[in-house]
Amino acid sequence: MDAKEQRYIMATTILVGAQWGDEGKGKIIDVLTDRNDIVVRYAGGNNAGHTVEVGDQKFVLHLIPSGILHPGKVCVIGNGVVVDPVALVAEMDGLVKRGIKVGSDRLLLSETAHMVLPYHRELDAQREVLKGKQKIGTTKRGIGPAYGDKAARIGLRMIDMAKPKEFSEKLARKVKENNEILRALGAKPLPVAAISQEYLAAAKRLRPFVANTVVYLHNAMKAGKNILFEGAQGTFLDIDHGTYPYVTSSNTTAGGACTGSGVPPNKMNTVIAVMKAYTTRVGEGPLPTENAMISDLLHGLGREFGATTGRPRRVGWFDAVATRHAAMVNGIDELAVTNLDGLDTLERIKICVAYRAGGKTYETMPNDLAVLAKCKPVYIEMDGWKQPLHEVKTYGELPAKARAYVEKIAELTGAKLAIASIGPRREQTLTT
Ligand code: IMP
Repeated sequence: MDAKEQRYIMATTILVGAQWGDEGKGKIIDVLTDRNDIVVRYAGGNNAGHTVEVGDQKFVLHLIPSGILHPGKVCVIGNGVVVDPVALVAEMDGLVKRGIKVGSDRLLLSETAHMVLPYHRELDAQREVLKGKQKIGTTKRGIGPAYGDKAARIGLRMIDMAKPKEFSEKLARKVKENNEILRALGAKPLPVAAISQEYLAAAKRLRPFVANTVVYLHNAMKAGKNILFEGAQGTFLDIDHGTYPYVTSSNTTAGGACTGSGVPPNKMNTVIAVMKAYTTRVGEGPLPTENAMISDLLHGLGREFGATTGRPRRVGWFDAVATRHAAMVNGIDELAVTNLDGLDTLERIKICVAYRAGGKTYETMPNDLAVLAKCKPVYIEMDGWKQPLHEVKTYGELPAKARAYVEKIAELTGAKLAIASIGPRREQTLTT
């Protein structure tokens, strides 16, 4: 093992997205998994879509950590995640069909994780319709309503599946209750019996996987295991630190790894943030550097379509105001910059270093969305490298202009560059 690899051996690593999600975290997590024993998901639900290419096979994972693709690694779905039991069973079955072992020795599901149920999905969709032009652009996976029930203390949790009779009664009661709300919204009520049957079957299947994951993780730390906490979504989709209300419903930033797993802050060693060499976002909400030219360029290459919903992502220039904010709230130790190769053909590349609105310059992200919506980016420009990067084997072999660009965006973010990624394959991951 060389010195570069050695530095990724550590007790605990949190990996987060520094932008609006879809930063290419799945691939970096996959690379880091080699050096860890356990991979933990701590927030979000099956709204996430982590794409990982292993050999000539492509996997898209929504709930299960990509560590499942590595024999011998243990994956934990932590208490901070919201889990649709039926969707989880479908994801497990999909993996098993492709020859991946998904036994209860390899996958643990927190007994205190909350459930996403069909009425959450339906409510998610109906609320979006009600919002009209103000819609969030959610993934319609029921994530917001599920976290809403958690906060309102009326949710069902994985631990409830342990007692099938009580679970079935609680579920039927909840479906009926929510049917009243759906009717009031002018939507169709959901079939109580069919849902009970479907979710009882999923509960039976998942029961062996349900565990006290907090105790499991603490025992693992005592045994000297290395743990990777894999973030979903990104900093600006965080319910507290993102562009509210155009956010998801969980803490996607580094602090969420503690609350979403039960591992305390003083046991966390390193935060690695992943960001694209440009900016993307799916769904509604402000995106100050959005740009039609770079958007058309990437969509034309068949890139930047959502892994969960297939929606074209909105694309813009790199926004250092945003990533500086991400460095503040996450406390980034190391940066991984992905999709550098997406910019291969550009003559000149813009980087946003500040915003201007109403005669004022903003070096940090304004919280008032009305101000943010008016913000015009202040750009600096750099030369493009104008050559394909995908065959480059080491960081030092990158063209000088590509290195200058990636080092500039790391400097403007205020974090140390550790990884530059130039394609979806594992070997296209260059460490500095
Ligand atoms: P929700 O999480 O489905 O409620 O969606 C809320 C917002 O977060 C929407 O703008 C979604 O497009 C966005 N979002 C949720 N999950 C992801 C993700 O994995 N990548 C990027 N955006 C996401």
